[in-house]
Amino acid sequence: MKVAVVGKGGSGKTTTSAVLARTFARTGMKTLALDCDTNPNLGLSLGFGEEATEALIGVREAVDAGEEEHAGSVAELIDRFGVDGPDGVRLAVVSAIENPEPGCPCCGISPERLLAQMEDVEGVVVADFEAGIGTIMRMGDEPLDVVVIVAEPTAKSLEVARRSADLVNQHQLGRVLVAANRLRDDDDLARVRAALPGLEVVAIPDEPAIALAERQGDAPLDSAPDAAGVRAMVALSERVMAPASPGG
Ligand SMILES: Nc1ncnc2c1ncn2[C@@H]1O[C@H](COP(=O)(O)OP(=O)(O)O)[C@@H](O)[C@H]1O
Ligand SMILES: [Mg+2]
Repeated sequence: MKVAVVGKGGSGKTTTSAVLARTFARTGMKTLALDCDTNPNLGLSLGFGEEATEALIGVREAVDAGEEEHAGSVAELIDRFGVDGPDGVRLAVVSAIENPEPGCPCCGISPERLLAQMEDVEGVVVADFEAGIGTIMRMGDEPLDVVVIVAEPTAKSLEVARRSADLVNQHQLGRVLVAANRLRDDDDLARVRAALPGLEVVAIPDEPAIALAERQGDAPLDSAPDAAGVRAMVALSERVMAPASPGG
């Protein structure tokens, strides 16, 4: 199963991806988290800690600098450059680099193409994509299973969400689930629903404990598992796995 997490920068993609990945792993699924952002920080939200997160970024930079041998296949990339962390989630940084070798499966194709090319995925892959709609445009017509669109109740965030949803539907990439994030009240939720009619929406409140975890470099799931915002992200993961319920 392939799950892509998209949305405007700062909407909460990385935080959401991390809670999704770890929750899937806790149910016993083999879980691979792909950090596709050129500013990779998924490791921190997953609870890998600063050292391991930095080390993973370092490997990516070493490939870029020609100091580390490239991987010959996506499987080798995940095998050699990935690391296991909390709840057994495997994390690999696959963000674009400055000097890719054209055609190289570990750096010469965009992360979204890399995800598209992954066949026979065992368990679940959660891809924390780069901000904006470019990633979805580059997916072409390669199907995903679920596209989680993270949207804050702001005009700009909702505009990115709407364009993302249109593209996903146009290219029949997969089921769309909207994570309405950082909601302060019912009006916020209504704003999201009005901007994205007919789409499945899961409400996630603005959560001080998530902001605090970020400042401390911790995984929200570790530092505040019972906080409403974290629980809502866990509930989102259940919805990802559950059958679709349009308009819900
Ligand atoms: N529900 C929430 N409540 C409060 N803060 C949040 C929430 N979701 C995300 N954040 C904070 O918003 C900021 C951006 O989140 P992040 O997941 O890094 O977004 P993105 O990956 O889309 O850029 C981070 O500081 C994060 O802690
Ligand atoms: Mg991010």
